[in-house]
Amino acid sequence: MDHFLTEEQQMIKELTRKIAEERIKPVREELDEQEKFPWEIVQELGKADLFRVFLPEEYGGTGGGLMELGVVGEELARVCSGVATTFGVSSLGSFPILLAGTEEQKQKYLPPIAAGERLPAFALTEAEAGSDASNIQTTAVLDGDGYIINGTKQFITNAGEGEIYTVFASIDRSRGVRGLAAFIVEKDTPGFSFGRKEKKMGHRCSSTRELIFEDCRIPKENLLGEEGDGFKVAMKTLDKSRPMIGALAVGIAQGAYEAAAEYASQRVQFGKPIISFQGVSFLLADMATEIEAARALVYSVCRWIDSGAKDISRACAMAKLFSSDMAMRVTTNAVQILGGYGYMRDYPVEKMMRDAKLTQIYEGTNQIQRLVIASRIIKEYASQ
Ligand code: CAA
Repeated sequence: MDHFLTEEQQMIKELTRKIAEERIKPVREELDEQEKFPWEIVQELGKADLFRVFLPEEYGGTGGGLMELGVVGEELARVCSGVATTFGVSSLGSFPILLAGTEEQKQKYLPPIAAGERLPAFALTEAEAGSDASNIQTTAVLDGDGYIINGTKQFITNAGEGEIYTVFASIDRSRGVRGLAAFIVEKDTPGFSFGRKEKKMGHRCSSTRELIFEDCRIPKENLLGEEGDGFKVAMKTLDKSRPMIGALAVGIAQGAYEAAAEYASQRVQFGKPIISFQGVSFLLADMATEIEAARALVYSVCRWIDSGAKDISRACAMAKLFSSDMAMRVTTNAVQILGGYGYMRDYPVEKMMRDAKLTQIYEGTNQIQRLVIASRIIKEYASQ
């Protein structure tokens, strides 16, 4: 199918696919087995200017948007979604700066991210603030010309490897959701350290750790936006980032579908390639159809947002929800088509199934996506 990519988007897609096939595919199993952070690949993506695609030109970007980001994410995830997530968090960690940062903050922090020299991370989640993101216990107290941060963030992607952290903390617990603020904290700030690397089911090459703040003093000018804006900055960031998770899910599913179709056309049982049996070919037909449907949704949401759309929460949640549920079904069926081999680590589909699971969980579980969509529907009909 022609997905009507622009000439530049097509070039970005081809370049990403080349890197994914030539540089990531040969090492993805090793990265997964050894839970090794893909620094060499990150450098490669940086050299290819792929971290620039979603950033404005004035901050070192190439002026693209969610569509370009999605195209890169999809192509990386088709081969290894651990790498794709590492890449994707460069946007998740940058969006708070783009959305709420001052010109000075943007000039300071975004160009090194665009160049792939410094990775950012997004630190919202805590032990008691997962789905209930506003229940943040980490505090930031104004003290002279700085803030003192105390608390622990959990499950933070790119933790330990990234250098620029957008951190959400409470400046006034009595104000609840309106008492939160966003900050930039740089790696190596005294009082800022990392917990152990989490042992995960999938996305094993991406880094997931705690961030620990113990009387961590940051300059006052690292406040992002206004005091009290933190929750809205976090929510707007997640809105913008969820279509990218949809794109990652489409990429994982595409990779699994291709592996299953190739296997089914080669594997002979009862004297014929198993693809000639309807039980298998109909599975592939459903997989291919669902992938195209999810891709169409993700691309149209990305294009709609890039065209300047407002009030995007519902569509963004839909893109993530539909694509990640689809990816879970498609990867599970890919394992089914490969049968016993699919369950073995010698074939890529078991990794893809493990990886797909996270797309239903991170950046808001799919139950939270349904809640976001439903709340917008309720609001729409209540006002009629
Ligand atoms: N945009 C702007 N403002 C928003 C908003 C949005 N999308 N969503 C909510 N708000 C505003 C509301 O308007 C409201 O403002 P007022 O008080 O001025 O009216 C305020 O925020 C509070 O809104 P709610 O009452 O709806 O908030 P809530 O506490 O009920 O929470 C929620 C809503 C949707 C459940 C939210 O907590 C949520 O999204 N939870 C999931 C968190 C999540 O996705 N975490 C992922 C972490 S990051 C990650 O996973 C990254 C990684 O590893 C790669």
